[in-house]
Amino acid sequence: MLEFKNVFKSFHNESETIDVLKNISFRIETGEFVAIIGPSGSGKSTLLGVAAGLDKPDTGIVSLDGVNITAENESNLADLRADRIGFIFQNFQLLPGLNAIENVGIPLYLKSSLTEAEILKKSEKILESVSMSHRATHFPKQLSGGEEQRIAIARSFVNDPKIIFADEPTANLDFKNSKTVLDLLLYRNKEQGTTLVVVTHDPDVAKLADRVLEMKDGEIISDSRNKKKIPSAQSKKVTAKKTTKQKKTNSRLKQASR
Ligand SMILES: Nc1ncnc2c1ncn2[C@@H]1O[C@H](COP(=O)(O)OP(=O)(O)OP(=O)(O)O)[C@@H](O)[C@H]1O
Ligand SMILES: [Mg+2]
Repeated sequence: MLEFKNVFKSFHNESETIDVLKNISFRIETGEFVAIIGPSGSGKSTLLGVAAGLDKPDTGIVSLDGVNITAENESNLADLRADRIGFIFQNFQLLPGLNAIENVGIPLYLKSSLTEAEILKKSEKILESVSMSHRATHFPKQLSGGEEQRIAIARSFVNDPKIIFADEPTANLDFKNSKTVLDLLLYRNKEQGTTLVVVTHDPDVAKLADRVLEMKDGEIISDSRNKKKIPSAQSKKVTAKKTTKQKKTNSRLKQASR
């Protein structure tokens, strides 16, 4: 469960103050898939960073599974993120000096309980689940945008997080890569009960969510539930086709999470 209570955040520079989050309150239940939409500059990425404990609000409370993360110090927050949170950044943020498999393993290096061999094994399996094993030793600059995105997604999955925050995970991807990314995220949400919070400009992604929060000028201006779809005969056919593809993804992911 993620809860914001009266959260405010501003950025200051020499000449002005920008109020980016203005009295944000909401609650997301465990297992929900929530899309956050809104125009550029409305505060979506800032909100996601604050939710994941990457950034502090000025005032207000953010709690994750009952822990008030605004009150935690940086070391406790790092542990909490390594244990419970997966984060997919808007611009991937892969480390340029590490190859693909090393980038995937970063969250596990922060978990001191695992040996080097265990980290490598887990990273290999997750890399396979996003069909990127053949690029394991490539560095970010040798990867395409879609490949970098899949590495970023693998990195967000590797610690089996309880909640995944994804900032525009399908932006700049072609249809096929977008679908792969969405299938991977949906599998985590529907089959493993992972809470999913996705910032998106894509109406097709927002339609897949259980719920849509809309931001404007630092405020949440609407909070609506998507209707559950009742498949017609025609869409059942489409669903059946998707299911075959999904099964392949599912079996890869099942192997990976063993
Ligand atoms: N570190 C910062 N310092 C100063 N201003 C910032 C900082 N980060 C964000 N802002 C400002 O805060 C506002 C909200 O930014 P944010 O990145 O949250 O928007 P967004 O809704 O994610 O936009 P986009 O859809 O373009 O990604 C913008 O006006 C931005 O310029
Ligand atoms: Mg953004």
